[in-house]
Amino acid sequence: MKFLLLPLVAGLATATPLAIMADSFIKRGVTSSINYSQMTLYGGFERAYNLTGDEKYATWYRGQIDALVQSDGTIKGWDYGKYSLDNYRMGNNLLYWYEKTGEAKYKNAASIIREQINRHPRTATGGFWHRNPEYPNQMWLDGIFMADSFYAKWTKSFDNQNTTAWDDIARQYDNIEAHTRDNKTGLLKHGYDESKVAVWADPVTGASPLVWDRAVGWYFMSLSEVIPLWPQTHPARKRLISYFTTLAAALKKTQDSSGGWWLIMSEQYVGVTGNYIESSGSAMFTYGFLKGIKLGLLDKTQYLSPAQKGYDLLVSKFVVEKDDGTVDWEGTVEVGSLNSNASFEYYISVPLAVNDFKGAGPFIMTP
Ligand SMILES: *[C@@H]1O[C@H](CO)[C@@H](O)[C@H](O)[C@H]1NC(C)=O
Ligand SMILES: *[C@@H]1O[C@H](CO)[C@@H](O)[C@H](O)[C@H]1NC(C)=O
Ligand SMILES: *[C@@H]1O[C@H](CO)[C@@H](O)[C@H](O)[C@H]1NC(C)=O
Ligand SMILES: *[C@@H]1O[C@H](CO)[C@@H](O)[C@H](O)[C@H]1NC(C)=O
Ligand SMILES: *[C@@H]1O[C@H](CO)[C@@H](O)[C@H](O)[C@H]1NC(C)=O
Repeated sequence: MKFLLLPLVAGLATATPLAIMADSFIKRGVTSSINYSQMTLYGGFERAYNLTGDEKYATWYRGQIDALVQSDGTIKGWDYGKYSLDNYRMGNNLLYWYEKTGEAKYKNAASIIREQINRHPRTATGGFWHRNPEYPNQMWLDGIFMADSFYAKWTKSFDNQNTTAWDDIARQYDNIEAHTRDNKTGLLKHGYDESKVAVWADPVTGASPLVWDRAVGWYFMSLSEVIPLWPQTHPARKRLISYFTTLAAALKKTQDSSGGWWLIMSEQYVGVTGNYIESSGSAMFTYGFLKGIKLGLLDKTQYLSPAQKGYDLLVSKFVVEKDDGTVDWEGTVEVGSLNSNASFEYYISVPLAVNDFKGAGPFIMTP
């Protein structure tokens, strides 16, 4: 989209492209669902509303949430016996509406998720299984964004003195770091199996073999969400900051000259036939750079220029103007799952989707 190639003002995105993208989703319509994909898009609406102050974004977003939350604070269709981290992402959006309106139904709905976390199955070291019963003893980077940002937000809001909870949240990030961080490149593999029985599990670390961009993106975003919430005096705060800044440095190094990032970021596959610059990961990393600058965690003189390059690519390549005045979001891979053999052939075989919330949401969220 050519006319939207604007410089980031003082390190911040301008309203226009984000607002046009949000407007396009309103116009096309979105089926409301507890699905984390929708929740990620709605995170974009929080940003669009904040940036423009236009009530239409808040009204539309609240309508989507109110279609799910009943007046007694129960969640339509919620399965109390389903332990899937993916479903917990919604807690963040519920707390947004609780903070904004003070209406008890949103807090009650979020408390359903918070209580489910207490019952969620764990690995021997206390990490949350990605999903029960499908992925026993497995932690994926995706799950950190789905569950632990909310767990931290809840704790900060209602349970800030609960050191057990803060320790428990930190443990999730620590587990991911200990098993999936490639200490040579600074990037993280998609996930690990603590029991090391998955077909893809490394016999020593339990890790899956490859670095998948969106998983790293979820993780990077989640760190940027929890660090500002973290108690200043809690010892894990420093660690989380170093997880974020060392990952940022690795991402800066692996940014393609186009400004984007490869679907499979593992060195041996960069530029290989079938691999491509993927838009959701590219949006998430651009988001993370700008958020890191805004939070004072990243040095503007080092990260603003890569962020600008990333942002320019998103707008010029993945935001596509339609004849009806809306824009499409392109280039986002539908899925990447460790319910696979986790091979390069698997990841590149997954099709791309148009207007995928998991890519468009982080784009609209650009700080
Ligand atoms: C979540 O939504 C996406 C896109 O709308 C869809 O492809 C996916 O199957 C949904 N997942 C679940 C668990 O419903
Ligand atoms: C946007 O966020 C800022 C900082 O949190 C806040 O001061 C401002 O009121 C927000 N604007 C809207 C329209 O919510
Ligand atoms: C504190 O956090 C722990 C871990 O999540 C939880 O089991 C416990 O119920 C919490 N305590 C209170 C008072 O909420
Ligand atoms: C990377 O180094 C850290 C700190 O030395 C260590 O705890 C971790 O296990 C290493 N990661 C892997 C995957 O070997
Ligand atoms: C892994 O799965 C992909 C399809 O998802 C297939 O193309 C490939 O041959 C499989 N590789 C192995 C080693 O089984």
